[in-house]
Amino acid sequence: MSFVKFLGIGSAVPEKILSNLDLEKMIDTSDEWILSRTGIAERRIVEPEVATSDLAYEASIKALEDASMDPEDIDGIVVGTITPDYIFPSTACVLQSLLGANNAFAFDVLAGCSGFIYALHVAKGLIQGGGSKNLLVVGAETVSKIMNYEDRTTCILFGDGAGAAVITTSDTPGILSSCLGANGDGGEFLYMPAGGSRMPTSEETLKNGSHFLRMEGKEVFKEAVKALQSSTLEAIKLADITPDDIDLLIPHQANYRIIEAVRKRLKLPEEKVFSNLDRYGNTSSASVPIALDEAVKSSRLKRGDIVVFSAFGAGFTWGASVVRWQ
Ligand code: ACO
Repeated sequence: MSFVKFLGIGSAVPEKILSNLDLEKMIDTSDEWILSRTGIAERRIVEPEVATSDLAYEASIKALEDASMDPEDIDGIVVGTITPDYIFPSTACVLQSLLGANNAFAFDVLAGCSGFIYALHVAKGLIQGGGSKNLLVVGAETVSKIMNYEDRTTCILFGDGAGAAVITTSDTPGILSSCLGANGDGGEFLYMPAGGSRMPTSEETLKNGSHFLRMEGKEVFKEAVKALQSSTLEAIKLADITPDDIDLLIPHQANYRIIEAVRKRLKLPEEKVFSNLDRYGNTSSASVPIALDEAVKSSRLKRGDIVVFSAFGAGFTWGASVVRWQ
């Protein structure tokens, strides 16, 4: 069986900044409350005419350039997103058309904030199964489009962005392990009630805001801490390494208190945990690949290092992956 490695990485965030001070003018909150409870100072928000595929396109072009590849070299595109351009066709198909990736199959993965880790796991399997060589794996979101900016318990948390990676076959191990998990019983704690077959969009759903994201923050928080800790430990065990071998942990950027709980459980020093939460908030599926791109560009992650990704999201879903960075 062949190994799989990362060949290129890229990310894109909108220019427009929504700061805590801006939010103070919109809802009953304060910069101090948001910073101390979440670690978030600002987030990026797209303009109304920008869709998820537009950010995915920008990030993908950068990842392809980084990999020295043309869109035609890509065999398949897997996009993790909870904010697709449409319910159908998939955002991956929209992206395939934008890129002119004429030799690629394309599909979306819907796994909440674990979308990129799920997409990576699936793409790795497709390569190791022998059917594919070069795959584009993307996490892209415009969470602002499903946000109720009158709900202070959710709108302070999320932002928009995209990250993309080209992965390919390798003679030496790159992705050392990955594992996924889910617990559908947690679905009611983080979801968007309307717009699907259970509750199609109607005048009523628009009136009561059922097409916005809803979350029971406390329930999500507890489960996030547990699942991030256990899945990270599972991926480490599968890769046959110990926490001491980790050079950098890139956790899902949801809340610094969640990240701290995972860091302490793994007994990692602060400098071994990457965070850009203060600048982007929670960008859902895009959070891990944006952080990965920044870690590489800022030389926090170097060739030969062991990096661990872990994520948790709506579903509930979770997943982790250990990679030797090449
Ligand atoms: N500003 C000021 N006060 C607020 C705000 C706000 N923005 N939001 C809530 N409060 C108030 C509450 O009303 C409450 O007031 P009360 O005591 O009078 O009732 C008080 O602050 C405390 O609220 P809590 O909900 O207990 O605050 P907590 O410390 O739990 O923090 C938070 C809330 C930040 C949402 C936290 O629960 C959290 O981060 N949860 C996880 C969220 C998450 O990561 N979600 C994404 C997962 S991934 C995905 O797939 C999308």
